Amino acid sequence: MGFSLTDVISICDFSKKDIDFVLEKAAELEKTPKEKKSRILEGKIIASLFFEPSTRTRLSFETAIQSLGGKVIGFADPAVSSASKGETLSDSIRIISGYADIIVMRHFIEGSARRAAEVVKKPVINAGDGANQHPTQTLLDLYTIKKEFGKISGLKIGLLGDLKYGRTVHSLMYALAHYPNAEVFCISPESLRMPQEIIQANSGKLKIVETRDLQEFLPELDLLYATRIQKERFVDEFEYEQIKNIFVLGKQVLEKTKKGFRIMHPLPRVNEIKPELDSTEAALYFEQARNGLPVREALLSIMKDVEK
Ligand code: CP
Repeated sequence: MGFSLTDVISICDFSKKDIDFVLEKAAELEKTPKEKKSRILEGKIIASLFFEPSTRTRLSFETAIQSLGGKVIGFADPAVSSASKGETLSDSIRIISGYADIIVMRHFIEGSARRAAEVVKKPVINAGDGANQHPTQTLLDLYTIKKEFGKISGLKIGLLGDLKYGRTVHSLMYALAHYPNAEVFCISPESLRMPQEIIQANSGKLKIVETRDLQEFLPELDLLYATRIQKERFVDEFEYEQIKNIFVLGKQVLEKTKKGFRIMHPLPRVNEIKPELDSTEAALYFEQARNGLPVREALLSIMKDVEK
């Protein structure tokens, strides 16, 4: 098999070959009729454990499990699990691994998915760990970019908004480093800059520009990847209030952008993309969310055969 990993924890663990394998599998499954793929997870039970809120990730994983003929156990709210009685994550995961064949989990603690993968023999898929990583989002982002532009190499991509706490943009930076000549423009307020260790880790592989000025580079961009300023990650609410509306995209951005320009966003959005953009050709974010389904189907169909 062209896939080397036994868990999906961080996009940094993926080789280019691993990424390509998932994207090709997703493209194949997207073309496969429903009845043909409905036995891929036959007899398998997948645990879907969401210790943090989610709409797209949880529901697309659970849809993928059902469309491949698997069964789902789990929770969307840790308040209904024994985590609320003080059970440790390690204990919960050990117990659940006795019931399920694959564990999909989202947790607010950075590094929690890695820790879970270390204590169980079943494959673990990280559906987001705090402000750290969101590798399955990155894979669907890459899938969306490739489908829309026919390539990833050579594109000029703006990352906009909360680059400090945004796990989707952290993962995306590492992934883009696999694609020659991709240029990344990190556009954020000073207090939400991309962590310097991520800039440094990728600056030899990517051309990276850091700026606070969206207008300066907008005409050059093929793609603008907007992110939400995440209220839940701020300790100081006043600081959040000061910057929450610093970048609001409306139709006027399209007056400056080049032909074929697209906007992505991992969603949910709050104020950062006005609904007036939704019906324009530039809006790729709803299609991006839909692409979560074939990509997560691909990951589950690959991970079902993993032996740790
Ligand atoms: N993009 C994303 O992770 O969305 P959810 O938080 O709704 O899963």
